Amino acid sequence: MAGQSEELIIKAKETHGLTRQEIVTLLGDASAEEQLARAADAVRHEFVGDGVHLRGLIEFSNICRQDCCYCGLRRENGRIERYRLTEDEIVELARKAKGYGYRTVVLQSGEDMHFSAPVMCRILRRIRQLDLAITLSIGERSREEYKAFREAGADRYLLRIETTDAALYHRYDPGMSHENRLRCLWDLRELGYEVGTGTLVGLPGQSLASLADDVLFYQELDADMIGIGPLIPNGDTPLGKAQPGDFHLTRRMVSILRLLLPEANIPATTAMETMVPRGREVILSSGANVVMPNVTEGDYRRKYALYPGKICVADTPADCRQCMQGRIAAMGRFVARDKGFRHHREAKI
Ligand code: 5AD
Ligand code: FES
Repeated sequence: MAGQSEELIIKAKETHGLTRQEIVTLLGDASAEEQLARAADAVRHEFVGDGVHLRGLIEFSNICRQDCCYCGLRRENGRIERYRLTEDEIVELARKAKGYGYRTVVLQSGEDMHFSAPVMCRILRRIRQLDLAITLSIGERSREEYKAFREAGADRYLLRIETTDAALYHRYDPGMSHENRLRCLWDLRELGYEVGTGTLVGLPGQSLASLADDVLFYQELDADMIGIGPLIPNGDTPLGKAQPGDFHLTRRMVSILRLLLPEANIPATTAMETMVPRGREVILSSGANVVMPNVTEGDYRRKYALYPGKICVADTPADCRQCMQGRIAAMGRFVARDKGFRHHREAKI
């Protein structure tokens, strides 16, 4: 490893600050990866502890009004079997998730406007009564809708920026506006959500400088959660023949994020394990502290096909819960029992 990277890792560990150029240097230095991961693992231990937060992921509709060039749910994809769960089915999955021991559920879908604010709020109020923290991940909505969801009981919101490079964003998310995506994130921040965002690593034309800009943006937003995953080309989309995102680059980005946003909740994403067996363990040892096991049931798991090769499509929610619990214990970590809100440094004293 170059001496420069070694110095940068020490600086990041001690000050939690790096310049754009310094981030680029670390992102580009494959030989620094192990040391970077070790430093991130130590910072993770110090700031958020050894508990791994499990969030039960409910994929309740794969219908989407958007047309992202990488995503299997895009509206132009005629090869996906569409589905939409009923309100009762969604609440029932949340109830079962609670039974498996989850303290948080993530309600995720395509941008399916059937779930209007009144419908969504009804679901939120019912799940709220189960004493579960609720994360929403249903895409871009108006500030009024975000406000209504918050009042009905949503605690957190996940909306990846995907890339902070507006030109790249407009190329791969046709019909969408980067400005509006930023507006959504800042609205969510102001409305008192815990805000989760993240990057899709490996979009064709994405540079290391652009990834560094993403990291700086997450610091500026003071993101509470940051999910990073590699692009997995989906043959049913325009990016079907693109190069897959680089697992190692993604791993280095996760480690850098932990060093620079030490209190954030950072998931080991499903896409990482789709690329590399046991990929989630690798990432949990490189700075991450969250896993989002799937609690969707039956054939819907397969049908929620953002990308091919998705893991666990033949497993049950109980399988995934057991599996992750065992794997986390085998790493010398434990499943956290609280609802997993962000640790604030002040609150630790
Ligand atoms: N490969 C990897 N991740 C993808 N996502 C969508 N399509 C793909 C793909 N082909 C990610 C996006 C989105 C999240 C829910 O899934 O980053 O925000
Ligand atoms: Fe689903 Fe291991 S997490 S079976």
